[in-house]
Amino acid sequence: MCGIVGYTGKESVTDQLLDALELLEYRGYDSAGLATLNGETGKVKLRKCAGRVKDLRKICRNDKKISTCGIGHTRWATHGGVSDENAHPHRSGDVLLVHNGIIENYEELKDHFMLHKDLKSQTDTEVVAAVLNRFYQGNPHEAICRTIKYLKGTFALVVMFSDQPDILYAIRNVSPIVAAYNGDGTMLASDVVALGAAAEKYMVVPEYMILELHKDEIKLFDLDGKQCEPEFMDIDWDTTRGGKGSYPFYMEKEIMEQPDALKATMESRIVEGKIDLTADAIPDEFLRDCNRICVIACGTAMHAGLVAKVLVQSKFNMHMNVEYASEFMYGNPVLDEKTLVLAISQSGETIDTLEALKYARRQGAKSVAIINVKGSSIARESDYVMYTAAGPEIAVASTKAYTTQLVALFLLVGRMAKVRGVFDEAAEKEYLENLVEAPAKMLEVLEQKNEIHKIAREMLDAKDAFMIGRGLDYSILLEGALKLKEVSYIHTEAYASGELKHGTIALITENTPVVATVTQTNLKDKELSNIREVQSRGASVVLFVKESFDLADAEYADVFALPAMADEFMVFPASVALQLLAYYVSMDKGLDVDKPRNLAKVVTVE
Ligand code: M6R
Repeated sequence: MCGIVGYTGKESVTDQLLDALELLEYRGYDSAGLATLNGETGKVKLRKCAGRVKDLRKICRNDKKISTCGIGHTRWATHGGVSDENAHPHRSGDVLLVHNGIIENYEELKDHFMLHKDLKSQTDTEVVAAVLNRFYQGNPHEAICRTIKYLKGTFALVVMFSDQPDILYAIRNVSPIVAAYNGDGTMLASDVVALGAAAEKYMVVPEYMILELHKDEIKLFDLDGKQCEPEFMDIDWDTTRGGKGSYPFYMEKEIMEQPDALKATMESRIVEGKIDLTADAIPDEFLRDCNRICVIACGTAMHAGLVAKVLVQSKFNMHMNVEYASEFMYGNPVLDEKTLVLAISQSGETIDTLEALKYARRQGAKSVAIINVKGSSIARESDYVMYTAAGPEIAVASTKAYTTQLVALFLLVGRMAKVRGVFDEAAEKEYLENLVEAPAKMLEVLEQKNEIHKIAREMLDAKDAFMIGRGLDYSILLEGALKLKEVSYIHTEAYASGELKHGTIALITENTPVVATVTQTNLKDKELSNIREVQSRGASVVLFVKESFDLADAEYADVFALPAMADEFMVFPASVALQLLAYYVSMDKGLDVDKPRNLAKVVTVE
């Protein structure tokens, strides 16, 4: 949460920072700020405000844009409300600081260093700035090293000292910072997307090392002052530079990109008609010998795990748990070296998932991470990594990350089935033939997006909605309901349809919108009778049904026929239909689809 940027180079820094902050805004959008330092005059300019980057841009409109070094921040409030004073950067004497993370002992530090009267904000960050300033006597490394010894919690700190022209300093624990040469200077950010169009390679700042960013050089030091060689990786996300294109929102663009993202995720992993995970280097013995699988993930990524659970338990005689990463440790999970832990995350930075993974590894479990962002913390923490090829996902609501996670999981389960002797060659071939069809079936849904838009218009006034289904349909609907909640603010509950009559059906009244998916042959009759139960209580049912299913004479408020695939693959067309439904409801309600209230794309606080 919170986006950080820094630039030093030849160009005016203000525009560079504002552009980069706009790209990072999905990490938090409560307030924004920047500080610039003019190397010639030594003058510092600090601009910050509650609100969006566009509000900050307005404040900076008439500034003389002559400084070439600066730091910027976009905030997701944790300590202290959304206000101008609490926005970053924070200044204390010579120190200007932006921070991502949480300093758990900031109250103790206030007392220890007797800072109360110096502070203007309620933030933990200003306390760190004040401590840094106490220790600063012209030697940035010394001040940083002495300060971090006192810090408990997670942090990515970027510091500009007003008497150190053209240099930025950074250090981190858990919260990410990446850096790159970007043509006319050097840049750092919380995320690769903000490193500038000219950047071709980037480095991840290792934890507890000091980064020095100069106009023409990136230097790295350990805490003893020894200079170390930074390790650079290629930036291969060309779409980073594409912006929204002709779409009004990133969410729509990202929904539409799914067929290509799915193909790209499969491409290198299907060789001569067989699943090949050689590039992921996951040993077959590990897939063959594990006797339990445990998914740790949050939100949408956790819902991808629920789909995998249905696949795994239908193919192998094996237990699979899918856990909220934030709850994982409290359940005292049973883990050993035969447990395969699957950590699923788009960003690779979700702290709940990262901490759960560390815990699982301490108990001896082996792990595979399914991650979209290369080099991210979870990827680095895991034994093996399968990268999804979704490309950058900017909208807070996850869409293409989810369906590419599903593809990675289908491939992993398929390989397990092969090495465990569940699939012979013919079964593997049939499974893959279905999987490679998924992008085309999704495209068929996307081509009918106007039909789904019409359905969405009927839901605009709803206060509450339900989504009902069984088995795989229920797993898909949990994700569909999360999508509708987060972007449309309609209170939506996904319910296992057989469970409704045990209490929740009391909430169904005249015209309550109920969305149902019916895609599984063995569940169809039971699902249809559960639908009739809610219709009898007045519900208005929208049905997403596999096109080959016969609905007899029943009547529904709306019916959308999903292109038919083998049952277990119906998650692909059904998911995209539910994403479109949520998207159009949000758009037609006039909401900020890409930046729903209270949310942030990357959740780096527990
Ligand atoms: O980056 P991650 O995949 O670890 O993020 C997990 C969740 O925070 C994320 O999926 C969240 O639920 C999305 N906003 C849902 O659209």
